[in-house]
Formats: sequence, C-alpha cells, structure tokens
Amino acid sequence: MQISVRDIEFSYNGSPVLQNIRCEISGGDFIAIVGPNGSGKSTLIKCMNGILSPRKGSIHIGEQNIRQHSLRHLARTMAYVPQKNAGHTPATVFDTVLLGRKPYINWKPSASDMEVASRIIAELGLEEIASKDINKLSGGQQQTVFIARALAQEPEIMLLDEPTANLDLRHTLEIMNMLQELCNKGLTVVIALHDINLAMRYATGIMMLKEGEIYAWGGKEIVTEEILEELYDIRVQVMENNTGVHVVPVGLK
Ligand SMILES: Nc1ncnc2c1ncn2[C@@H]1O[C@H](COP(=O)(O)OP(=O)(O)OP(=O)(O)O)[C@@H](O)[C@H]1O
Ligand SMILES: [Mg+2]
Repeated sequence: MQISVRDIEFSYNGSPVLQNIRCEISGGDFIAIVGPNGSGKSTLIKCMNGILSPRKGSIHIGEQNIRQHSLRHLARTMAYVPQKNAGHTPATVFDTVLLGRKPYINWKPSASDMEVASRIIAELGLEEIASKDINKLSGGQQQTVFIARALAQEPEIMLLDEPTANLDLRHTLEIMNMLQELCNKGLTVVIALHDINLAMRYATGIMMLKEGEIYAWGGKEIVTEEILEELYDIRVQVMENNTGVHVVPVGLK
C-alpha cells in the first residue's frame, strides 16, 4: 500500500520541526530515513502513523487521507515500532505479541490469532522466552518482541523507528532480511536508521533529513562523500569492494 506525504509541516509548541516534507512511497518500497539526531525522523514517522497531526499538509494512506481511516482499519493497515518503549505493565512475551492481533479481535482471540502469534514468536526465535515478563528481558530481546507484535498485526505498511539500535549483528541481519522478504511480497517498509551502511544494503529509497527538511531523497546514488559530509558535518569516505559500497566516517571536520 502506498503512502503519500503532501507538503507537511509540523511544530511542537510552536517551534517548527518538519517543513516542506513531500514524498510518494509505493507499495513494496523499503524506505530508509536517515539524518542527524534531532533532524525529525521520529516526528515524521509519527506523522505517517497518525499519532501526530501536521499543522499543514496531509498524509494519504492508499487512496484516503489518514484522518478518514477508522482507527481499527488503520491498525490493520499499518504497524509502528517506536524508538523508545518505556515503562511496561507486566505481560508475557506471548501476550505482548498477541496484542498485535487486537485490531482483528472482537472479545477473545480466535485460534487463528493464537496461531499467528505463535508462528511469529517461532520465526523470531522467541520461543524460549515466550512466557517471560517483558520487563525482565534485555534491551535487544524487548526490541525483538515489539517487532514481533507489529508483525502480528499483519500490516501492509510497517513503520520502524531505529528497530536495530539494540540488536547485535546477527539479530540485525535477521530482522532486516525478514523485512526485505516481506517487502518482496508487497509490504511497504519505512525505517529510521542511523546505520547508513544498513540503509544502503536494504533500502530501495533513502530520505535524508536535515533540520526538519528533506536534504536529499532518491536511490543509493545520493549517498556520496559530499552529501554525507554536509549532512553530518564530518569527514567521510565511501569505499567499494566486492561486498558493496561502504561508508566509513573518518573524523570530525
Ligand atoms: N515531544 C516533544 N516535544 C517537544 N519537542 C520535541 C518532542 N519530540 C521531539 N522534539 C524535538 O523535535 C526535534 C526532532 O525530534 P525527533 O525525535 O523527530 O528527531 P530524530 O531525527 O528522530 O532524532 P534521533 O536521531 O535522536 O532519534 C528535536 O529538536 C526534538 O528536540
Ligand atoms: Mg528518533
């Protein structure tokens, strides 16, 4: 399903955070949003999810303005994995993943809801901790559980805000590979990432945000030394070998 961001502006308490953001994201795209801390990545993702309302402009999911979708329909269409998951009431991993089925449940989960939650727990290798309280997990395990909960929604669009920040190299690859496979089947992925190398490896499109505006937007060809040096105000080398193109930060300016 496509996402159309139409000239949005967003302010927190009157101070502008996003300006002139315009982009068209097609079904099956894998879009990475990169940019310095505070550039507006999380805010843009929250606008796409409808948690925040832009001061100007609009967001369309499929053919419809996001404001015209019912919350239940939106929750079946779009899943969101936030950057921060602070303060949880006690719940097991299984119950947390099952919560992802909420948009489909009337008053009690069906056998197929239970089956979806169990399947995703198995796919993400969470069986051994399925009965544990999520408050007693490591940061990376918790992050994986919240990705599992989003997958249980069986959405057409997934918005993920730095989902691999707490993950080790292996789990990072597992999650990214899984998202890529789902994308190949039509899922639309929008992911805020700090790791520009991961973005280049997986994304079909890259949006660079700087101070709340789109600094560059396109394919991997926009990732050049000049652009990255300007975006992050550092010195960068872009190198190529038989495993692909790699960005190496070499120092401060
Ligand atoms: N709830 C809030 N109230 C007021 N200002 C906020 C709020 N959340 C974020 N901001 C401000 O909005 C700007 C953009 O923040 P945002 O979280 O979108 O950045 P980001 O690109 O996701 O950064 P990071 O890479 O650190 O996650 C920052 O200047 C931040 O201080
Ligand atoms: Mg953020």
